[in-house]
Amino acid sequence: MPDAYVLFGFPVHHSWSPFIHGMFARQTGQEMSYRLFETPPERFRNDALAFFTGGGAGANVTLPHKRAAADLVNELTRRAQLADAVNTIVCRDECLLGDNTDGAGLLADLTQNLKLRWSSPRILLLGAGGAARGAMAPLLSLEPELLVIANRTAHRAVALAREFAELGPIAGCEFSKLEHRRFDLIVNATSASLHGDVPLVPIDVVDSTTTCYDMAYGAGDTAFVAWAKRLGAARAEPGWGMLVEQAAEAFQLWRGIRPDTAPVLDALRRRAATAARSPS
Ligand code: ATR
Repeated sequence: MPDAYVLFGFPVHHSWSPFIHGMFARQTGQEMSYRLFETPPERFRNDALAFFTGGGAGANVTLPHKRAAADLVNELTRRAQLADAVNTIVCRDECLLGDNTDGAGLLADLTQNLKLRWSSPRILLLGAGGAARGAMAPLLSLEPELLVIANRTAHRAVALAREFAELGPIAGCEFSKLEHRRFDLIVNATSASLHGDVPLVPIDVVDSTTTCYDMAYGAGDTAFVAWAKRLGAARAEPGWGMLVEQAAEAFQLWRGIRPDTAPVLDALRRRAATAARSPS
């Protein structure tokens, strides 16, 4: 029997992960299966424990279980502790290790795939939920002059900024306080794009030197990417690369081998472009 891996989520049928891990496995000659495992919040813990008791080798975890997965595992990596969420589990010696590869995926996409280089960038992070929290440590590793967290519900941004204050120069505020401020990099970690919305930030935060990055992705431009392009941003990128890079990081943890992400990212973009062209 090949080693079994699953993706726990709810819903999960839309996921690109089986495609990505299938390509990684073929490319690296790994004998493994990867399938979707849809489980509602109230069943996640039992289903996950049953999967691992039954010999499951590892799992990815997506919404809404990332927090619950942190409570499930026996041990957390440092980055999973900082993110307070787990997106990757590996079973070793009957012990479950929880990791979070999302932040590393974001960083790899920004610096290696998109080849973005700044010295002391001014960074704006939109959102203060789980996705934003997971982006904090990787964005701080870019050694920003300032990292501003802005959120629709301002007190969440202020609280998140306070929590990470020891790790770098961070401020939290509401969207309206962003007026007349400029940033080198704006990362959208809100879930607004999932509903076709754009966070209501003042439009003058974007100019022709700004790079805008949406952690969301989809067939065609996300609402945030389309908005940034309309405002003349230097670059406007969706999160396909982050998706593939976080998967590569998980794959390496599971299999001890690093897949080449470039052909997988190409294939994914082609599939997304085809999906955007075909009537649904
Ligand atoms: P996730 O784990 O994906 O981050 P979450 O914890 O529910 O999900 O957080 C969602 C984030 O997107 C929050 O920052 C939320 O703002 P609020 O804290 O004000 O709810 C933000 N968000 C969702 N829809 C939004 C919208 N239409 N405009 C702006 N922010 C939005």
